[in-house]
Amino acid sequence: MKKIFPLLLLCSLGAIACTQQQKETSEMSRFVNKLMDEMTLDEKIGQLNLSGGGDIVTGQARNSNTAEKIRSGQIGGLFNIKGVEKIREIQRVAVEESRLKIPLIFGMDVIHGYETVFPIPLGLSCSWNMEAIEESARIAAIEASSDGICWTFSPMVDVSRDPRWGRVSEGNGEDPFLGGQIAKAMIKGYQQDNSYSDPTHIMACVKHYALYGAPEGGRDYNTVDMSRQRMFNEYMYPYQAAVEAGVASVMASFNEVDGVPASGNKWLMTEVLREKWGFEGFVVSDYTGISEMIAHGIGNLQNVSARALKAGIDMDMVSEGFLSTLKKSLDEKKITENDINKACRRILEAKYKLGLFDNPYKYCDGTRRSKNIYTQEHRDKARRIASESFVLLKNQDGLLPLKKQASIALIGPLANTRSNMPGTWSVAADLSKPTTLLEALQKAIGDSSKIHYAKGSNLTEDAELEARATMFGRELGRDSRSHETLLKEALETAQRCDVILAALGESSEMSGESSSRSNLDIPDAQQRLLKELVKTGKPVVLLLFTGRPLTLSWEDAHVQSILNVWFGGSEAAEAIADVLFGEVNPSGKLTCTFPKNLGQIPLYYNHKNTGRPLATGKWFEKFRSNYLDVDNDALYPFGYGLSYTSFEYSEIRLSSKEMNFNNQLTASIVLRNSGSFAGSEVVQLYIRDCEGSVTRPVKELKGFQKVTLQAGESREVSFTVTAEMLKFYNYDLKHVAEAGDFEIMIGTNSRDVKTAKFELKEN
Ligand code: NOJ
Repeated sequence: MKKIFPLLLLCSLGAIACTQQQKETSEMSRFVNKLMDEMTLDEKIGQLNLSGGGDIVTGQARNSNTAEKIRSGQIGGLFNIKGVEKIREIQRVAVEESRLKIPLIFGMDVIHGYETVFPIPLGLSCSWNMEAIEESARIAAIEASSDGICWTFSPMVDVSRDPRWGRVSEGNGEDPFLGGQIAKAMIKGYQQDNSYSDPTHIMACVKHYALYGAPEGGRDYNTVDMSRQRMFNEYMYPYQAAVEAGVASVMASFNEVDGVPASGNKWLMTEVLREKWGFEGFVVSDYTGISEMIAHGIGNLQNVSARALKAGIDMDMVSEGFLSTLKKSLDEKKITENDINKACRRILEAKYKLGLFDNPYKYCDGTRRSKNIYTQEHRDKARRIASESFVLLKNQDGLLPLKKQASIALIGPLANTRSNMPGTWSVAADLSKPTTLLEALQKAIGDSSKIHYAKGSNLTEDAELEARATMFGRELGRDSRSHETLLKEALETAQRCDVILAALGESSEMSGESSSRSNLDIPDAQQRLLKELVKTGKPVVLLLFTGRPLTLSWEDAHVQSILNVWFGGSEAAEAIADVLFGEVNPSGKLTCTFPKNLGQIPLYYNHKNTGRPLATGKWFEKFRSNYLDVDNDALYPFGYGLSYTSFEYSEIRLSSKEMNFNNQLTASIVLRNSGSFAGSEVVQLYIRDCEGSVTRPVKELKGFQKVTLQAGESREVSFTVTAEMLKFYNYDLKHVAEAGDFEIMIGTNSRDVKTAKFELKEN
């Protein structure tokens, strides 16, 4: 009886929740039906039109006559407008001066924070800390919603194995499982329980559906072509996870999939997204994604717009193809009124769920701005989270942490910049606010005479490239002095100091949209500077700023310590000081492979074995799958990252050497902090399916735990393995687990693991 009672209670509570939800849904349907009955066809089409606000421009085309279009019901939403007063006034025009007074939805690229900026998503993913990632999205939602925004174009979850692509900086690296966990954490941070009961809950938009991270040659917007088996096993999971988490909207990608641009791809937008995964929200195109189908070569504006609507796109960002051609397509029977109604209903439902019909100014309470944006509390959290995103790549002889008594030569074009700190896609940031690294180090030491700064070089020799790499106000102040003069000053500075801290790498706009690179070295002028600094014989720490994996073979061989700090957000400088001086022990682990050279790309840990694999650690064997001039191994593999302490792993203990489809087993290791600092370690679980009906990767990430241990402390870390975790998409695209042998691997990165075996048996 005792057991039954809570069960009954639970069921009846569930039933109450269920009827409550049904009631809300039918109230919403009633409301939307009634409204749609009053709407003209033009007004319905107007709801499908998303206009660029013009404040923050993130594409080439521009929209015009916005106010007039709002009055005549030709706009459903606006994006990238900053400022609650401005948004309030625009909303006023919609709800006071348009015939049906339908409120607008206001979107923005709030990608890694609003004014309090967190690390670029690639950096954030290296924290492997789901609570911290959720918290970053929560703070972003609180700040953005205090400034009029109710919809963010985030999370970006495109898996990518090609660091030439500039937008690797915006995603979560190369692993679909980790990407899926991060998608869920971010959506929870933005949408909370998906009820939008509170004005700090905003709608998320998972993007860019689908496969945008796999363009040929790493060139942005380029063709994507892959087998369906590869897409479902290796690229799709993060989008699906977002749908499972209840994401409110999906953004179509620019690229083609199977020869059809995503914005016109019915298989993607309807069959997979809605029919297979059960997505119920709305789909928005990317910026001019619809009109770009003309250049893709599949029709004129009228035809591509009709195709997009038919495929399942509900909202047209910037193209105005829906606005200008859907009526004609309806007359010509290329689309039906039902197609328009379906899309219009989804947009109106989103506005209803957000509560905008009850209160169009729900997100426009001007008093929240000063209380909620860029607060000390948010900044403190951003600082802590930033310090968790840094990855220590090398630390010979324990050079780091630095001693505060040492005199430090701080050298490099990235050492004394403010606007470069937040990183790409931080459109709401106030670029005058971040602390420079120089200022942060001086403050941390409390004795500015100990820090000696010299610029040392420009970002690159090539002034034109530097101009492209410092757009959107991310100035580095190009120095007009010659390279020799800058170098001389740097070397003289270095000679006076105990240790050299070289702040080098990419500028923030060297990654991000339309920032692909064909060379992944640290830019020329800086490399020359680094080589000269190393020649001084002084200990050198390379403090690496980057939005992507770089090729660092020379640096790894010659520089004593390398700390990769990505772009850590508005509080990056303070966080860097925390790690450099040992206030925080670095714990970040790479979520993307760093190759030895460019020719190895694509290089990723979860590759297939081939029929002629080369043994790990081997250089070359004739008639094996390898290169003549470089081995197959990564310079720094997926999951890699050092700490100021060291960790030891015991062998794996399995609760059983076999399991069947209905039960599970436990794999455990004992982790010991064998060094002299307290520290956190990301313990990683990988599994290999040794024999499949189709070929399977050499390993796949299936779990991870971030564990904090005091010096000398040990702890058992356990993972449960279920048959569900062993599933993959087979030749017929069925999601199945197959009986047979498996290898289980637990370790500190994807290369250095302990291994055990088990068998999955038929029941
Ligand atoms: C284009 C980008 O691909 C997308 O990520 C972004 O959300 C839109 N522009 C809006 O700025």
